[in-house]
Amino acid sequence: MHKSLHTHIIGLGAYLPDRIMSNEELSKRVDTSDAWIQERTGIKQRHIIAKDQKTSDLATAAARQALEDAGLTINDIDALVVATTTPDMVFPSTASVVQYKLGGVGFPAWDIQAVCSGFVYGLAQMDGMMRAGMFKRVLLIGAESMTRIVDWKDRGTCVLFGDGAGAVVLEVSDKEGGVLGSVLHCDGSYRHLLKAQHPYPGASPDDSMMDMGIDAAGVAAIEMKGNEVFRMAVSKLGEVVHEILAQCSISADEVDWLVPHQANIRILQATAKKLGADMNKVIVTVDQHANTSSASVPLALNKAYRDGRFETGQLLLLEAFAGGFAWGANLVRWSK
Ligand code: ACO
Repeated sequence: MHKSLHTHIIGLGAYLPDRIMSNEELSKRVDTSDAWIQERTGIKQRHIIAKDQKTSDLATAAARQALEDAGLTINDIDALVVATTTPDMVFPSTASVVQYKLGGVGFPAWDIQAVCSGFVYGLAQMDGMMRAGMFKRVLLIGAESMTRIVDWKDRGTCVLFGDGAGAVVLEVSDKEGGVLGSVLHCDGSYRHLLKAQHPYPGASPDDSMMDMGIDAAGVAAIEMKGNEVFRMAVSKLGEVVHEILAQCSISADEVDWLVPHQANIRILQATAKKLGADMNKVIVTVDQHANTSSASVPLALNKAYRDGRFETGQLLLLEAFAGGFAWGANLVRWSK
């Protein structure tokens, strides 16, 4: 590992499907209300993948924008990684499909699966490989079509998820800043609290779901013990934000932006409180996108970057909690 090398985010992109489903529309399908969803989760709406789209399409669109933002083409890329829970197929990897759609050939491409923590895991993995000298420029994408794997009859879960993709171009160089460190954890003894079995024989969406591209033949469906997941998420995220700061010898008040996985506004508020950070330092997109799993951190990054909120030299703390349970954090000094 070269201590003098640093991994920088040099391009960002995002894609959200055109179709937006409001809480009102959802409350016509299941016994819920806009007031309940907003009060318990902070979610107002979610984007829904079109019938003729796949996760690789969302990923490809986000990657194109990230390449353009970096002023690069696919020919400048040495590796492509897609973090996803909702791959196009069991195999080949969604990353290989995205490589093909972008017109790339020859360089390695693979998926990683850490559910909602996929992007945080991916950034840690690529930072290590890049500083070890394996790759100079990498496309890292988080892309999901979560609405394809929710049980649309379960009000406890179907209100929580949305679709989208976010992408970054990473470049390693001797310039100071970029990724300062990462912390990753998993505890499989909690695997039963949040899961989607494959295939899920009980999920047979009715015809009204077909316009959303949901196949009645049988999909995986998310099962979750919501309040137990909530408690663990608040507890483990509260720990991991302090762990990453200790590892990097940074104090909490030096953090400029918390860029969290977007599952529930109450989890974001609780983590900000444990960090001693005001909510105006937290990037919030859960109201607009709901939980887009591995896409949520890069979507939040892209949103704040496009808004002009990040300034060179500022410290960003990225964190996520996911099924597994798998959780982690990255600390990044913004260098774009
Ligand atoms: N509309 C109306 N009522 C509802 C709905 C709904 N959509 N969903 C559940 N309820 C009801 C329940 O039936 C229950 O009713 P009861 O009291 O009559 O039994 C009541 O609301 C309370 O249910 P809880 O599950 O205790 O509600 P809670 O306040 O915990 O909120 C929620 C539920 C929003 C799911 C919350 O627990 C949560 O956000 N958990 C964490 C979710 C999460 O982060 N998951 C993703 C992790 S990322 C990943 O890896 C996918």
